[in-house]
Amino acid sequence: PHRDFYLISGIHFPEEVDEIQNWEVRDSDIFIITYPKSGTIWMQQIMTLIEAKGDVTATTNQLNSKRIPWIELSGSKKEFVSAPSPRIRVTHLHYKFIPLGLKQRKGKVIYVTRNPKDVLVSYFHFHMYATMLETPKDFNSFFEKFMEGKVFGSCWFDHIKAWYSQRDRMNFLYITYEDMIQDLRSVVDRICVFLGRDLTAQQKAHVVEHSTFRNMRRNPSANYRNVSASLLDHNKGVFMRKGTIGDWKNYFTVGQNERFARVFKEKMRDLPLTFVWD
Ligand code: PPS
Repeated sequence: PHRDFYLISGIHFPEEVDEIQNWEVRDSDIFIITYPKSGTIWMQQIMTLIEAKGDVTATTNQLNSKRIPWIELSGSKKEFVSAPSPRIRVTHLHYKFIPLGLKQRKGKVIYVTRNPKDVLVSYFHFHMYATMLETPKDFNSFFEKFMEGKVFGSCWFDHIKAWYSQRDRMNFLYITYEDMIQDLRSVVDRICVFLGRDLTAQQKAHVVEHSTFRNMRRNPSANYRNVSASLLDHNKGVFMRKGTIGDWKNYFTVGQNERFARVFKEKMRDLPLTFVWD
């Protein structure tokens, strides 16, 4: 790990990640922040559609990672510096790495989180087919690895704690995956208010329609279908896997669930956050 944070070797380089805190932030910048498997690509889709006032072609003619690039990927700085406003970027990084400007209320942060048991299950499947990650022996061994925080993104609890406890220093919007599942339209309303975007009811309806699981599954620019086999082995898995709340029940043993509950209670003691688990 680099400064206690696990990166992916070969695509992330510590020197470049350390440089990010010095990136100059514009007031119009928007950063989508997530722990892995918490709704990142979904928010990339929603944000693209909001900026395009619901026009789906903005999401079909360019890959999600080109529309809203990762800041931690090697080489991303050059593009960031010269890009026109508003710049929308995405990252899984821990709070300690982000541009200092964000902590001075420049730019805006949308933090998307998901109940961590479903994150764990989704991340397990991702490890089974992501070529750049170590393939777990079985679910149990991945469970251990996740609990120890030895995965890209490191410890889920540390991630949310650091970001959420510093929220008052930033222009910060907190959204959960479960909010998006239960009432995506309200989430779109909240984002538009937060960003000061003025969309008609019909435009918002288009944003919602083109970001459903079903429609994103059909849109290769919104589901990593065409990503090279050197990164994702498409014979072993699919990015748009299930898209539901509560899949953890199909994987966790009673013992694992009890242990998770204990850790959750202990680690989240000071955070007034609740999750929808099923
Ligand atoms: S990553 O690798 O960190 O960028 O992954 P991320 O995009 O954060 O998370 C992937 C999971 O999000 C689900 N997903 C959706 N669910 C519901 N509706 C929509 N539109 C949607 N888009 C993506 C995706 O299926 C992964 O979850 P699982 O549980 O594995 O299906």
